[in-house]
Amino acid sequence: MIKIRNIHRTFGQKHVLKGVTLTVNKGENYLLIGRSGAGKTVLLKNILGLIRPDSGTIAIDGTDITQLPKKKLEKVRLQFGLVFQDSALFDFLTIDENVGFFFYQHTKLKKSIIRKKVTETLALVGLEGIEKMYPYELSGGMRKRVAIARAVIYNPKIIIYDEPTTGIDPIAVDKIVTLIEDLHQRLAITSVVVTHDLEVGLKLADRLAFLLGGRIIFEGDKKDLETTKDERLIQFLKGTSGGPIREMEV
Ligand SMILES: Nc1ncnc2c1ncn2[C@@H]1O[C@H](COP(=O)(O)OP(=O)(O)O)[C@@H](O)[C@H]1O
Ligand SMILES: [Mg+2]
Repeated sequence: MIKIRNIHRTFGQKHVLKGVTLTVNKGENYLLIGRSGAGKTVLLKNILGLIRPDSGTIAIDGTDITQLPKKKLEKVRLQFGLVFQDSALFDFLTIDENVGFFFYQHTKLKKSIIRKKVTETLALVGLEGIEKMYPYELSGGMRKRVAIARAVIYNPKIIIYDEPTTGIDPIAVDKIVTLIEDLHQRLAITSVVVTHDLEVGLKLADRLAFLLGGRIIFEGDKKDLETTKDERLIQFLKGTSGGPIREMEV
C-alpha cells in the first residue's frame, strides 16, 4: 500500500531523513516509533505529499507520488484520513460542522444528508448527541474521537495517526487504542500509527519500524522484536538512558 524507497530530506543544514526505506502492507496496522525529533512527522508528511523528499520514491498503491503534479497529488491524498497530534479542530465550528467540514465546504450534498453522515460517524467512534457542541466543551479524549470521526467520514483507504494518544489521561488513552483497533477491524483500513508511547504502539501494531538517526534501523513484527539483538532497539524498548543511543543522535 505504501512503499518508500531510500528517501532523503534536508531542512537547511539539517539532514532529517537519510535514506528511509519501509513498506506498509494493505490492511495492516503499521507502527512507527522513534524519539522526539527523530523525523516521524516529517516522514508522515512525505507520505501525504505535504513535503517532497529531496530524493527517493514513495509509492501509494502503486503510484509514485514524489513527481506528481499538484492536482494528481490531491487525488491521491483523498485516500488518506489524518489524525494529528493536537486534533486540530476548528474552535469556532460545532462538532457537526467540524466532522462534516469537507462535505459542507466542497460538495453540494444536502445538509440533511451530511448531518446524517456525521451522526453515523460519531456513533462509530462512540460519541452521540454532541453535534451542537463546540470543541472547548469536550474533554481531550473526546476531541481525539472527533478528530478520528473527521478522518473516517471520507472512507479513507489509509488512516495516519500522528501521536493519537499524546496529552490525554490513561483511561482516555485506552479508549482511543480500543477505538483504533475497532475501526481497523470493522473498516479494514490500512493504518499508520506514529507514537513514542510504546505500550500503546505495541498493543496496536501488526508490524513496526524504528526510526533512528534518519533511517529505519528495524522493521518487522512483534516476534522479531522479542528476538532482536540490536542494542539501540533494546535500549529504546527498555527506555533506559544509558546505552548506544546518545543525546547527540537526536
Ligand atoms: N519545516 C521544517 N523546517 C525545518 N526543520 C524542520 C521542519 N519540519 C521538521 N523539522 C525538523 O526535523 C526534525 C524532525 O522533526 P519531526 O519529524 O517533527 O520529529 P518527530 O519524530 O518528533 O515527529 C526536527 O529537528 C525538526 O526541527
Ligand atoms: Mg511528531
